[in-house]
Parts: sequence; structure tokens; C-alpha cells
Amino acid sequence: MKIVVIGGTGLIGSKTVAILHQGGHEVVVASPKSGINTITGEGLQAAVAGAQVVIDLANSPSFEDKAVLEFFDTSGRNLIAAEAAAGVRHHVALSIVGIDRTDNGYFRAKVAQEKLIQSSGIPYTIIRSTQFLEFLGGIADSSADGNVVRLPPVLFQPIAADDVAAIVADVALAAPRGGIVEIAGPERTPFNEIVARYLNAIGDLRKVVSDPRSRYWGGGVEEYSLVPLGEARLGRIGLDEWLRRSKARI
Ligand SMILES: NC(=O)c1ccc[n+]([C@@H]2O[C@H](COP(=O)([O-])OP(=O)(O)OC[C@H]3O[C@@H](n4cnc5c(N)ncnc54)[C@H](OP(=O)(O)O)[C@@H]3O)[C@@H](O)[C@H]2O)c1
Repeated sequence: MKIVVIGGTGLIGSKTVAILHQGGHEVVVASPKSGINTITGEGLQAAVAGAQVVIDLANSPSFEDKAVLEFFDTSGRNLIAAEAAAGVRHHVALSIVGIDRTDNGYFRAKVAQEKLIQSSGIPYTIIRSTQFLEFLGGIADSSADGNVVRLPPVLFQPIAADDVAAIVADVALAAPRGGIVEIAGPERTPFNEIVARYLNAIGDLRKVVSDPRSRYWGGGVEEYSLVPLGEARLGRIGLDEWLRRSKARI
């Protein structure tokens, strides 16, 4: 089967490409580095010609509110037009759990991306994932105030990129769901606890405190804002196992 992975050089994209290659599929690794650009349209029609499945794992180079909205809007429109012309039978996109339950610029852009897919007429599956374990360091940095990391007292259920890629590949090879599938990591814990465990494990001495006034990427969050509310498919790799694997790779 011919499968195009948009953002195929990224964190989740490169892992998904490897799994699909192992399964013997014809995989197009689509990214600006490989001459395929969903913003300019460069190489897009040729890339999707004859493809049965397109997996969109692209991310915006800028997370500034206006830039990220423009990225997912323009990229989504160009991709849908190319897929419609090519007769693509399954569009898979990776989104985020809770984007419609809390408000920040990045989440608003992901809502816009989802709406384009839902109204495109192309059979689709949207996978909403919780935050990646690989993202914990970035979260700590963005929430740091000197030597203190302030996090809202909410539940958190991060998932390893390896688990995300395995589920994305699996979903892409199944029939389109015409809806949203939610995925999360195996452990649900308070946000401050998991970030503190992570920083401690990597020898980062910053202190983590739970602060009800702190926000998540600028948006207000409540106890269940960032975790699935209903049924979710769970990854297998928790924080300790992920740390063990990360250290083994160093
Ligand atoms: N971070 C999280 O915790 C989280 C949670 C849930 C869902 N997600 C979603 O997961 C998806 C993948 O994230 P990631 O962290 O794997 O991304 P990433 O590592 O930042 O990779 C981004 C990819 O997008 C490609 N790209 C950038 N501009 C492009 C363009 N104009 N046309 C085509 N491709 C373009 C990049 O290509 P180059 O290598 O050529 O630059 C790269 O392959 C994103 O949609 C994100 O919203 C993230």
C-alpha cells in the first residue's frame, strides 16, 4: 500500500515511517527537507498521487498564536485539495486530547485543523493524543521561574513517542473511523509529580510546585482538562521505562 507521511522526518513521523517500512509498505517521507511542502504546495500532488493513505504528522515551525493557526489552516487546506484530487481513501491526523476543553493559541489551531478534516469529505481518523513524554523537558522549561517550575494542579497522562507511532501506524492501516480516537500513556498522575520525577531522574535540581494560578501554554486548565474523559487506547511505556530506554540510547 502507498502511504504518505506528512512530517515524516519529525519525532512521531520518523518512528511511524520506520514501522510502516518494516511492514513492507511503500512510504513517502514528506517534509520540506525532502522537497514536499504543504504550505507552498511544492511536490504535494506528485507525492499523494496513487496513495491510499495520508498521515499528517506535520508541526508548525513557529508556536506563536497567529503563525500556528496559519500553518495548520493553510497546510490542512492544501493537503485536503491534493488528497481529493488523488482519491485518497484514508486521512489520518495526530491531534491533542482536550483541545476543545481549554484555550490556548496552539490548541485553537489544532481545533481548526480538525474542523477542516471533518468537513473535507475524505474518509478520516483523528487521533487525539496526550502530551508526549519527550515533551516533559520543554514543559518544565516553559513553566520555569528561576529555579522553580510552577505547574497547574491538574492530572497528566503523557505517552511515549514510540507508543504514539505504533498506534498511528496501526490506525492508518485500519479502516477510517470517521471520528476521533483518544490515546494516552499508562500512568495518570498529578502534573507536578510526573515533572518532578522526570527532573529528578535527569539530575535537574529545579523545584517543582503545584500552583493553581499557573497556566498551561497561556491557557487555564482544570483537573481533567488534559486527560481523556472517555475510553482511550493506552500506550505501554511509563515514565520509568521511558527513562530507562532513553538512558540506554545515550
Ligand atoms: N508535543 C506533544 O506533546 C503533542 C501531543 C499530541 C499531538 N501532537 C501533534 O503531533 C504532531 C507531530 O508532532 P512532532 O512533535 O512529531 O513534530 P516535529 O518533531 O516538530 O516534526 C514536525 C514535522 O513537520 C514537518 N513540517 C514542517 N513544516 C512543514 C511543511 N510546510 N510541509 C510539510 N511538512 C512540514 C517537519 O519537516 P522538516 O524536518 O523538513 O522541517 C517535520 O517532519 C503535531 O501535529 C502535533 O500537534 C503533539
